[in-house]
Amino acid sequence: MRIDVLTLFPALIDAFAETSIVGRACAAELVSIVPTDIRDFTYDNHRSVDDKPFGGGPGMVMSCGPVFEAFEHVVRQGGDAADSKLDPGSELIMLTPQGEKFDQTLAKELSQRQRLILLCGHYEGFDERIREGLSPREISIGDYVLTGGELAAMVLMDAVIRMLPGVLGNELSADDESFASGMLEYPQYTRPREFRGLSVPEVLLSGDHSKILEWRRAQSLKRTELRRPDLLNG
Ligand code: ADE
Repeated sequence: MRIDVLTLFPALIDAFAETSIVGRACAAELVSIVPTDIRDFTYDNHRSVDDKPFGGGPGMVMSCGPVFEAFEHVVRQGGDAADSKLDPGSELIMLTPQGEKFDQTLAKELSQRQRLILLCGHYEGFDERIREGLSPREISIGDYVLTGGELAAMVLMDAVIRMLPGVLGNELSADDESFASGMLEYPQYTRPREFRGLSVPEVLLSGDHSKILEWRRAQSLKRTELRRPDLLNG
């Protein structure tokens, strides 16, 4: 998978692409993360990417020109059709609090794409013609407003990349965890068996795999009922 990130802060994305599990996935060429600086597509001395809103009001609005040009540049670079139309396996995503809510199901869906192009905004938002002209899919990572789309893009990439085949050491571990089954994950324990008077549940030491499975399912259900009953309603 190739992920292009259109951003004003490419250094943030570079650091993300070099670190931890995502860093190893990039090194193993399971994914390539390519930041593109939107500011490289400006032509004035100040390299401005934003301007005052027509009609007045506070803040600044991200301008069309640099965003359209940065998008057209990465489309050509990534081998999609020369007319700036994306291939069917590619998707342009705008990170914005106005978008559809990101969740594990959406992460799974996006992990099937060959290519994602993520557009990160700043300031008070985007000139509406960016939406009209580029028709991005709009995604929000939650009901709060960040200073920019980069953190949201990193959240999305992290959740997607860890689902790609070969990224997690144990192929099963992505299926076993919270949300994959529609429930929260069961409690986990590791050595020592006793820690400051707290012990590991006997069943986990029993070696009886069907009992362990049964206990884990019951724990998942109990925890989900208690903490996230909304997940069980579906
Ligand atoms: N940009 C600013 N806030 C955001 C959010 N909650 N989700 C996605 N992108 C954003």
